[in-house]
Amino acid sequence: MKCLCLVAFLAIVITQSYNDLGVEAASRDGFVSRKGVQFILDGKPFYANGFNAYWLTYEATDPATRFKITYAFQNATSRGLTVARTWGFRDGGYRALQTAPGRYDELTFQGLDFAIAEAKRLGIKMIITFVNNYSDFGGRKQYVEWAKSQGQVANSEDDFYTNPLVKQFFKNHVKTMVDRVNTFTKIAYKDEPTIMAWELMNEPQCKADPSGKTLTAWIGEMATYVKSLDSKHLLSTGLEGFYGDSSPQRKASLNPVAANVLGTDFIANHFFDAIDFASIHSYPDLWFPNLNETSRLEF
Ligand SMILES: *[C@@H]1O[C@H](CO)[C@@H](O)[C@H](O)[C@H]1NC(C)=O
Ligand SMILES: *[C@@H]1O[C@H](CO)[C@@H](O)[C@H](O)[C@H]1NC(C)=O
Ligand SMILES: *[C@@H]1O[C@H](CO)[C@@H](O)[C@H](O)[C@H]1NC(C)=O
Repeated sequence: MKCLCLVAFLAIVITQSYNDLGVEAASRDGFVSRKGVQFILDGKPFYANGFNAYWLTYEATDPATRFKITYAFQNATSRGLTVARTWGFRDGGYRALQTAPGRYDELTFQGLDFAIAEAKRLGIKMIITFVNNYSDFGGRKQYVEWAKSQGQVANSEDDFYTNPLVKQFFKNHVKTMVDRVNTFTKIAYKDEPTIMAWELMNEPQCKADPSGKTLTAWIGEMATYVKSLDSKHLLSTGLEGFYGDSSPQRKASLNPVAANVLGTDFIANHFFDAIDFASIHSYPDLWFPNLNETSRLEF
């Protein structure tokens, strides 16, 4: 879908028992954390009110267009927006961040550095996504292609979730991201309070396993891995929000498009100690081109 950039995201904290892996304490100054079903910032409830700006790194890679980031953030803060969600990836292709497995373009990375530094300066928190479901800017498909070029056998991009080499590539990318030291602020990403949260993937789906179990297993493994490297930041999945087998009654009524097709299970996919909150992406206009406005609202 071309319009991923238009996704309105709505953050909701999951009701979940307190645990060791999640970020629940409000003790670290400047970090967004959670307490029960509340986001907390500097001891007070924090209400995320934000926007998608997938293009930040791309535009900030060229110093001549960095002003676009500044303008966007200034406009956002002047209207009370507090969170920007952006891509922490561009796998292969023009202005790639990761040019090949484990190889990074320093200038592009400095573009992301700039976006984070500018968010910090202007008081915006960021949600940064590690990879794309879809092939825009690389994504799962590019990871699987990389593995194939190293002799791995793969049937489809859904092997992203199970192929050991691909999983290692992804973990390496996570590690590179959290360990990155920002060239502007001199602070490692994993220690940067401007980052509100990481997201595992933009709109993960796995049609190869409609039960959702393949995706659930991948989320569990990767969420634990992210937290093993970075215990200060919140973590979410990036799912659209389609229910699956763990909530059959909702699957039937609220999920006419995706039920039993996309291999996601919103409840099971979030039921991990290492996943701190959930968000949804809603496109009723795209999903129901033939329904009228009233029916879309009902959905
Ligand atoms: C909003 O962005 C525009 C450029 O698109 C810029 O001229 C203007 O100064 C910005 N407004 C604020 C309040 O920052
Ligand atoms: C996710 O990827 C699959 C291909 O594996 C694709 O069919 C699907 O449309 C993608 N979903 C989104 C929301 O882009
Ligand atoms: C919208 O569509 C629904 C279902 O087809 C129908 O019942 C309803 O009358 C329609 N509403 C309008 C305002 O056209």
